[in-house]
Amino acid sequence: MSRTIFINGRYVPESEAQISIFDRGFLFGDAIYEVSAVIGGRMIDNDLHLDRLERSLRELGIPMPLSRDEILAMQKTLIVRNELDEGVVYLQVTRGSEDRSFDYSDTLEPNFVAFTQVKRLLDTKALKDGVKVGLVDDIRWGRRDIKTTMLLAQVQAKRHVKPKGCAEAWMLQDGFITEGASSTAFIVTQAGKMVTRPNSQATLPGCTRRAVLQVAADHGLQVEERLFTADEAYLAREAFLTSASSLVTPIIEIAGHRIGEGKPGPITRRIQQIYLELALNQGAV
Ligand code: PDD
Repeated sequence: MSRTIFINGRYVPESEAQISIFDRGFLFGDAIYEVSAVIGGRMIDNDLHLDRLERSLRELGIPMPLSRDEILAMQKTLIVRNELDEGVVYLQVTRGSEDRSFDYSDTLEPNFVAFTQVKRLLDTKALKDGVKVGLVDDIRWGRRDIKTTMLLAQVQAKRHVKPKGCAEAWMLQDGFITEGASSTAFIVTQAGKMVTRPNSQATLPGCTRRAVLQVAADHGLQVEERLFTADEAYLAREAFLTSASSLVTPIIEIAGHRIGEGKPGPITRRIQQIYLELALNQGAV
């Protein structure tokens, strides 16, 4: 089935969705994006994703291309038109198109594209059995809190760990884990505390992270927001990662070190279950 794509105010078949080669997203990576999960035709944590979209645009000085309500209506239209039951809605806003120059016109209008992708999110081997992660140096720029489309370091990170059977790469800076190439990193200490890095310019403030921290607070699970090293992670009782498209995914091995008993641990399972129940009951669409 050919998808319907949203592009600058129009809904078109994917074969007709075209953008200029002078688009600054294409030429400079001068663009931001968001990914919201869709389960049963409903978006998960979409308010948080739209908050972050607005923030990313503000940080880069790119105007909002539509109002929040208009964006939400457009997302819903895409889900309905593409009959999306399970998958993601992808949004991308670029600074706009004009002849190549680092500088840009004050009057430049953003390009706004959006599409749906079918993806199995719930009934996956990764959610059930957990995944392995590898380690790479974090070579990204200094404003990782902005969700830009400049993802080359992450593409390379995943490429390097894939041959070792790793579904994700955790990135290291000054001995500390920053985050996954496309997910937030969590460990559970031997004392049973969940640990994740505090938000800063060093990482993307994950929407799923935020929802999971709320779940932990509501259910009396202990959390520490602090830095942790790779060595601490190897000795963790459990580990997991979060993102819109991987939800709460258990980790069973980090850089060849078996985590806990080498299978998803009970705290991870609990968080996973509570998060999924909440997500499924959200009814955001
Ligand atoms: N990635 N950190 C990075 C570097 C990410 O790219 C992502 C998400 C996350 C998790 O954020 P959230 O919980 O808001 O999805 C953390 C998306 C899924 C992607 O690029 O496809």
